[in-house]
Amino acid sequence: MAERPAAPESDTRWRSGGGFMLAALGSAVGLGNVWRFSYVVGENGGGAFLLVYLLALLLVGVPLLVAEFALGRAMRRESVAAIRRLAAGSPWRHIAWLSLVAPSLVLAYYSVVAGWVLRYLMDFSFGPPTAAGDHAAAFSAHVAGTLEPLAWQAVMLGATAAAIANEVTRGIERLNRVLMPLLALLLLAMLLQAATLDGFSRGLAFLFRPDWAALAQPRVYVAALGQVFFSLGLAMGVMVTFGSYLPRGTALHRPALAIAFGDTLAALAAGLVIFPAVFTLGLDPAQGPGLAFVVLPEVFARIPGGRLVGVAFFLLLTVAALTSMASLLEVPVAYTIQRFRVSRATASWAWMLALFLLGVPASLGYGAWSRVRDAAGRGILELMDAAAVDLLLPLNGLLLSLLIGWAWNGRRAAAATGIRPRWLAWLWLGVVRFLLPTLLLVVLGAGIARL
Ligand code: TRP
Repeated sequence: MAERPAAPESDTRWRSGGGFMLAALGSAVGLGNVWRFSYVVGENGGGAFLLVYLLALLLVGVPLLVAEFALGRAMRRESVAAIRRLAAGSPWRHIAWLSLVAPSLVLAYYSVVAGWVLRYLMDFSFGPPTAAGDHAAAFSAHVAGTLEPLAWQAVMLGATAAAIANEVTRGIERLNRVLMPLLALLLLAMLLQAATLDGFSRGLAFLFRPDWAALAQPRVYVAALGQVFFSLGLAMGVMVTFGSYLPRGTALHRPALAIAFGDTLAALAAGLVIFPAVFTLGLDPAQGPGLAFVVLPEVFARIPGGRLVGVAFFLLLTVAALTSMASLLEVPVAYTIQRFRVSRATASWAWMLALFLLGVPASLGYGAWSRVRDAAGRGILELMDAAAVDLLLPLNGLLLSLLIGWAWNGRRAAAATGIRPRWLAWLWLGVVRFLLPTLLLVVLGAGIARL
């Protein structure tokens, strides 16, 4: 197969490190930080989960992020081609498929949740207000619908496909540059409000005081590692592609650490808004994927000017979701254009249709097909999420770390990171060669045992 040409030298490079950081952070910060982080923390016992999450972030997330950036930069290719090039001639090249399958599967159900966000934006903007106390019922009623949630999902996917088809992702990124700091400010303001709640200290304790008994449960480790992959956008080909636009020579551990830090800060801010409210209102922190969609509107319904805050919040979250969706869709689209020589528009709309259809069961799982559940009571969306995040991503992370750590000449790989002093680059290589495969294998085993 013909290889994709190297990234053009001039205009697709990031002009500044800051521009790159904001773009990578923009794709990292999304529904994962607000919706997924809060519900997974809530289901896995709070503080114990957070502790494992932070460990996994430093031990697995950051080194793997460096590895993906380094691979993309050294190969000067988007992810599928970069992996194939490094693995040229060996069966390892087939693992490139995982970097295509994983983002597609994630995008299919991510767009369902993004549709919920858009629907809330519309409700807060134009709908009649829902009374305080009624938001749990309102959420259940909305997601149980058939056509309406599917329509919102289609709108979000359509907007993403339009952006990718017309190559306006640069524009979205610029928009993001303004709106993301606004989202941070809004979360900060909501945090100050949360600090006045009766349940604030219980919320803090839930989030920061580890319940040590929870550490004995394997599922906490599986969930924490999966969330690290999801939230940083790892093992989905995106960060390899980002790396291919980086100028040579700069050290990669600094942007990787900064992205991990910023992404975690956004998740913690959301957690610090959500959990105090959960305990103040007497809600269940372990209620699953609806958590943020029930708790935050309850908060907005109770504070002065809450309606406006709600509009602003859901608007910013819609944009955050769109930037993440655009990064995800770009992976299969870029591959399809080059492999089948179709136009960007054809590839974008064909993928949008396929991913919409793949997402339909996830949406219906809350309504017409709500009886489809596993023994643990997880519905279709949660099962797709578990398959992608608890299995596919760690599996792809494992294979990627083996490929990058072992198929690449060690000296070249270490040099490709640009990390100085030398020993630090070798430490990174050691982590990629030994620690990552070991940890990922263990957690993957635990994930499979949970199926
Ligand atoms: N990290 C994004 C979020 O937190 C979602 C996501 C998953 C993503 N994988 C990605 C974004 C890959 C961009 C690239 O919502």
